[in-house]
Amino acid sequence: MNWIKKIFRQQPQDDRDPSQSNAYEMIGGDETIRAIAKQFYARMQQGEDTQKLLAMHPGPIEQSEQKLYEFLSGWLGGPQLFQQKYGHPALRARHLPFAIDEQMRDQWLTCMQYALEQEVANEQHREVIYQAIATLADHMRNQ
Ligand code: HEM
Repeated sequence: MNWIKKIFRQQPQDDRDPSQSNAYEMIGGDETIRAIAKQFYARMQQGEDTQKLLAMHPGPIEQSEQKLYEFLSGWLGGPQLFQQKYGHPALRARHLPFAIDEQMRDQWLTCMQYALEQEVANEQHREVIYQAIATLADHMRNQ
């Protein structure tokens, strides 16, 4: 997501070389991305309002959490962990086996909003990432 990187570059919040900054680094790198994936699935498992989304998951949640972490790492401008393991993300195609309507999208985004609130302290960074990921989530709808 180059435009996320660009937005963060225009508004450096710390004293590093802005040209070296990207979303991944600005929010705390690997540790933060892992934590976002963890909080995302914790919220999904704990919330009564997200049980339908949880039930849609075929395998162990740890595996889904790991894949989300690997994807987000590359998507936010860090190491392309998902791509290295599984090839091109082709995210929409990978989601075709699952019935994703507005309700599922919104349950997914509820979990992501929670995870970002827990792990990304800077409100502006959080908002930019949320908006970008909400667009991506809407793109996953297949009904
Ligand atoms: C919009 C609603 C969405 C729903 C209901 C949904 C649901 C699911 C389900 C049920 C799986 C299978 C779990 C697994 O293989 O472990 C999955 C896989 C995955 N999802 Fe989503 N997802 C949504 C959006 C997104 C978005 C926006 C992203 C990226 C930010 C994403 C990233 C992934 C990744 C990386 C995988 C693993 C794909 C694979 O290896 O085949 N998902 N999703």
